[in-house]
Amino acid sequence: MKNTLIAPSVLAADFANLQRDIEMINASEADWFHIDIMDGVFVPNISFGMPVLDAINKHAKKTIDVHLMIVDPDRYITTFKKLGADVLTVHYEACTHLHRTLQAIKAEGMKAGVALNPHTNVDLLEDVIQDIDLVCIMSVNPGFGGQSFIENTYAKVEKLKALINRKNASTLIEIDGGVTNKNAKQLADAGADVLVAGSYVFGAQDPIATIADLKQITK
Ligand code: DX5
Ligand code: ZN
Repeated sequence: MKNTLIAPSVLAADFANLQRDIEMINASEADWFHIDIMDGVFVPNISFGMPVLDAINKHAKKTIDVHLMIVDPDRYITTFKKLGADVLTVHYEACTHLHRTLQAIKAEGMKAGVALNPHTNVDLLEDVIQDIDLVCIMSVNPGFGGQSFIENTYAKVEKLKALINRKNASTLIEIDGGVTNKNAKQLADAGADVLVAGSYVFGAQDPIATIADLKQITK
């Protein structure tokens, strides 16, 4: 039996009732808070920034997993540490000196993550996989919640899992985008350790039961 971690994406919360939605995640079986930061440059959308994360951090009682969809993330590593990030994920496509960026994140005491766009091959991480705590495989094109899951993701998870095993690394595999009860089990079976779910959780009649169901089916 495995313990697949469930990370509701706050992007899909009701921002006018943010404290209520954070308390809901606190009370649920969810493991992490997934926080999407978008700059309108790396992705064609702007989500929310520092003051909102600061407010979330004051109430959130679980691991804070920050997904930076921004150019030049090195500029903000210290800031996100101060704002409460436990895991800080940067995009492969946004980092010219990825190895250096990973060391800078870890030097701040955070777990270092790398996100891959759907077109980015997992083999590009071969020489740096031992330095990565988490790889976030994007199963949609980043920028928006509520998009449909890209089926090629299963093959990417299997390939990445093989790379992690071959290199004797302890890297976690996270899946982000279009996760529902239809694909969660197959993703966990393929090797996923963390499943991000935004609209599927917050759009449900009963988000707490939906999170419990995701935990149950991915065991
Ligand atoms: C997309 C974000 C995702 C998004 C997932 O750019 O990185 O975290 O919130 O939302 P759903 O689960 O609705 O696809
Ligand atoms: Zn995300």
